[in-house]
Amino acid sequence: MVAALAATGFRPTALQAGTPPDLIAREGVLQLAPANYPETQGIGYNGAVPGPMIRLPQGARMTRRFQNELPQPSTIHWHGIRLDNAMDGVPGLTQDVVEPGATFLYDFVVPDAGTYWYHPHNRSYEQMARGLSGALVVEEAGGGPEVDNDEVLLIDDWRLAEDAQIAGGFGDMHDWAHAGRIGNWITVNGLGDWRKPVQQHSRHRWRLVNTANARIFSLEAQGLGGWIIALDGMPLDAPQPLDRLTLAPAQRADIIVDVTASVGEEAFLVSFERDGGYAIATFDVTAIARSERLDAPSPLPPNPVPQLGPLETARKAALLMEGGAMGRMGGAMMGGQMMGMREMAGAGKVWAFNGMADMPDEPLVAADRGETVRIDITNDTAWPHAMHLHGHHFRQIGSNGTAGPLRDTLLMDRGETAQIAFVADNPGDWLLHCHMLEHSAGGMMTWLRVA
Ligand code: C2O
Ligand code: CU
Repeated sequence: MVAALAATGFRPTALQAGTPPDLIAREGVLQLAPANYPETQGIGYNGAVPGPMIRLPQGARMTRRFQNELPQPSTIHWHGIRLDNAMDGVPGLTQDVVEPGATFLYDFVVPDAGTYWYHPHNRSYEQMARGLSGALVVEEAGGGPEVDNDEVLLIDDWRLAEDAQIAGGFGDMHDWAHAGRIGNWITVNGLGDWRKPVQQHSRHRWRLVNTANARIFSLEAQGLGGWIIALDGMPLDAPQPLDRLTLAPAQRADIIVDVTASVGEEAFLVSFERDGGYAIATFDVTAIARSERLDAPSPLPPNPVPQLGPLETARKAALLMEGGAMGRMGGAMMGGQMMGMREMAGAGKVWAFNGMADMPDEPLVAADRGETVRIDITNDTAWPHAMHLHGHHFRQIGSNGTAGPLRDTLLMDRGETAQIAFVADNPGDWLLHCHMLEHSAGGMMTWLRVA
């Protein structure tokens, strides 16, 4: 445990016996834009963007004292961790908000190896747009694959004004009813020009995390060859050749890449936008690590996630996603009353799940512990959405009954339907929401109860 704490970068002098390290949400000065631009006032855990990296061995305890030095309430959610419900960080569902000046002790065990992250779950559309998030990496119990370098790349999208300050307008209903708050400046680990030297034929494990409010990244590696080995923290049964990689908000991909570009050349991670490709990370090939590429990697060992039970007898629920601009929804239930779209928008809601724009009093599903649950989701909107389930990983079930990889966040295109299934083995109340933060704040939120 001591070694694990030291690895997070906290100064050892700040540690006293029995005192967990702090994660303090507070203001910080960031250099997001190039050096000839002013610094940006943001907020970060311990004032930094990204926040301190937390690295733990699988099965270890994660203990941090959260201190809120923001002028508004906050909490921390540990995205993708199958943790104790009381530690999930959802205000009004699993804990009270942590008021300005107050603290909360987060303490839980991390059962699964993989790439996870942490972020606020109160006014997250503002607090995350201003910078609050960090990586949580759980190392494989038996050691990870052999690589020359293991690195987390948190990819974020910022809306900056011309003076490089974070633009306001967090409650803008136009953003909320459309694709969410899409920015104009992309960073990797808080830098707009992330760059590092690499060696030809060196092997890297990159843990990509999309920490943006709403932007869906479409990524490609150039001058690099590789495989996807895990999605949303969970190992794939077999490494999959890396081609174009779509990363919706909150999704992660662990990739293994070998540098194939030659000395003197550059390799890139490229993000494809409507108007072309942009290098978001650049690698200068400065030397040769070995004469040839290494062999393809083996799969990672699976995490202890229970196998799905038979789907025919699973507990079933249906979720209809409606609303937003160019949608068909005329209104929804809010505060126990039927409201039209205009009235709803006046109250800050523009989306609905099963005709309800508020967090419903009743759960979408109440499952017995250990039961297999199947949810049929229909995206009856004109927008894509990134559906995230707390406390569990699910599999998407194909029309022929095949089960996809374990995920905690599913990207659903406009008009798409999807079936997801999971074993409800983690007791408590768990959110199911769109991770486009303006969409969840605007009504795309429901919950499940596991007895
Ligand atoms: Cu990362 Cu409720 O979300
Ligand atoms: Cu959405």
